Amino acid sequence: MNAWWKDRIVYQIYPRSFQDTAPDGKSAPDRGRGDGIGDIPGIISRLDEIKELGAGIIWLSPVYRSPDADNGYDISDYCSIDPKFGSMADMEKLFAEAAKRDIRIIMDLVINHTSDEHEWFQKSRNPASPYRDYYIWRPGKAAPNGKKLPPNNWTGFFMGEVWEYDEKSGEYYLHLFDKKQPDLNYKNPKVIGEIKKILRFWLDKGAAGFRCDVINIIYKTSLEDGKKGTAVRGIEHYQSQEENHAILRELRRDVLDHYDCFTVGETVMVDLDEAKLLCGEDRKELDMLFYFEHLEIDRRIARFIPKKFRASKLLEVLTKWQQGLRWNAVYIENHDQARIVSHFGAAKKCASDGQPPKYWERSAKMLAILELTLRGTPFIFQGQEIGMTNFDFKSLDEVNDVESHGLNALMKRMHIPGFLRWNWIKVSSRDNARTPMQWDDSENAGFSKAKPWLGVNRNYRYINYASQKGEPSSVLNFYKTLIALRQKTECLKQGEFLPLYADNRLMFYQRRFGDELCTVALNFSSRTLKLPKKTAGFFNGTPLISSTGRTALEGKILPWEGVVVQVR
Ligand code: NOJ
Repeated sequence: MNAWWKDRIVYQIYPRSFQDTAPDGKSAPDRGRGDGIGDIPGIISRLDEIKELGAGIIWLSPVYRSPDADNGYDISDYCSIDPKFGSMADMEKLFAEAAKRDIRIIMDLVINHTSDEHEWFQKSRNPASPYRDYYIWRPGKAAPNGKKLPPNNWTGFFMGEVWEYDEKSGEYYLHLFDKKQPDLNYKNPKVIGEIKKILRFWLDKGAAGFRCDVINIIYKTSLEDGKKGTAVRGIEHYQSQEENHAILRELRRDVLDHYDCFTVGETVMVDLDEAKLLCGEDRKELDMLFYFEHLEIDRRIARFIPKKFRASKLLEVLTKWQQGLRWNAVYIENHDQARIVSHFGAAKKCASDGQPPKYWERSAKMLAILELTLRGTPFIFQGQEIGMTNFDFKSLDEVNDVESHGLNALMKRMHIPGFLRWNWIKVSSRDNARTPMQWDDSENAGFSKAKPWLGVNRNYRYINYASQKGEPSSVLNFYKTLIALRQKTECLKQGEFLPLYADNRLMFYQRRFGDELCTVALNFSSRTLKLPKKTAGFFNGTPLISSTGRTALEGKILPWEGVVVQVR
């Protein structure tokens, strides 16, 4: 493997929930220490933990200046650090300290939209300004009664309107997300020029690449009405347009190719054919991408409404993607998804004092096996390595996520009863992943001495980093062992993916690389199951690791067991 980013594990940090630091008496109070929001000095203080886990790359969710309508994914200045996270000097120190540990950092590139508080947008509100064309302004339509109507019928990703009327301008602007996130206009070459400057700014500071937010929807070909009946009405006018591909190639050719860096794109409603265009070696647009299909196998309407889990469906989707692309990003959690132990695992619910259910730990390990035996570059989200669970929200007041509130309002308009709305929000809210990192069993889980910006999960006394660090059989130590195993086993890193068997609860596959062959077996249920006869032969070999500690299968697979066997 030649590319360094194919040979490393990525650890995603959601800075506001990672580690808040106590004021040091040196930095001004507005430098973000001790305010219940994580900060950059906090990340620096935890680099050794990230190194010990075995990660070699950090993806840093946004730390730029932002009014936080969408927790930093609404940027008001791309080249400065928000004071709540620290200063540019702190950021430079983070690059340097990470480099000392041979950890490289990729930044989050959020360029479909800016914040409405960005200087470009403020200037663009004046129709005569040279910045007017940085955004998508339109006059709107007139209804027969003379009332003003938005320019088209599109619907947005946060379940609300996509056009906001601006009195000052006398026109509407487009925002596919929150109204505080106006979309940039990629028909304007000046916008692309600005983005190139931002890329160079961070690459020159030492960034090793970018995770590119919703990168396949940045170019809006037309503003015609959208087809009725689609979940996100209007998407056919901006998803994966030919010009979008061309912009990515231009950024690559003019900037990225001149640095030792990589990109991973978050791609909305992408399918395999589209992914091949984006990541194909000949096109050179992105190095890897995040698709969503595997996490939506037990959901309807993207990830909002639960339906039955079937391991066979999961294997089908994974096989398609594992075999369809030569290399890709592999992930089962991020800051927008439910925690995997509460989603595919056994920790659907903890006891009222926070005690996790019986198979919480074993299923967390089994899911670790799933992710770390797939081909590609694995991305681990903070807290995944200790088996953090979904948040035990008591009411919508505890939810901060703009998307959850949008979903609630939409469902209310549709007269969906309150208990159903709440059940669905509980499983789908992005805040499930965003509760503070559980470092120890002290107040606020050792995340902050101040009141955290979002509630700490009630189970932090049972699930925390410090208690797992000293416990050889913990989820944390399992992740460390498994990562080390993967890193020395070429077959697990880059071997071909071969599906073997699946039903509703079981899933078996193999990885083959030259003469090496490994079999992976995963049980997604609380039952002991017999190994189907036809599969027995696949397990003759040396067990490499298992979520139960067993060293031989003896014809059966235990509840939530995950096993890797080296066949040759
Ligand atoms: C995807 C990001 O991951 C999510 O957190 C954000 O809300 C949207 N893009 C909009 O930037």
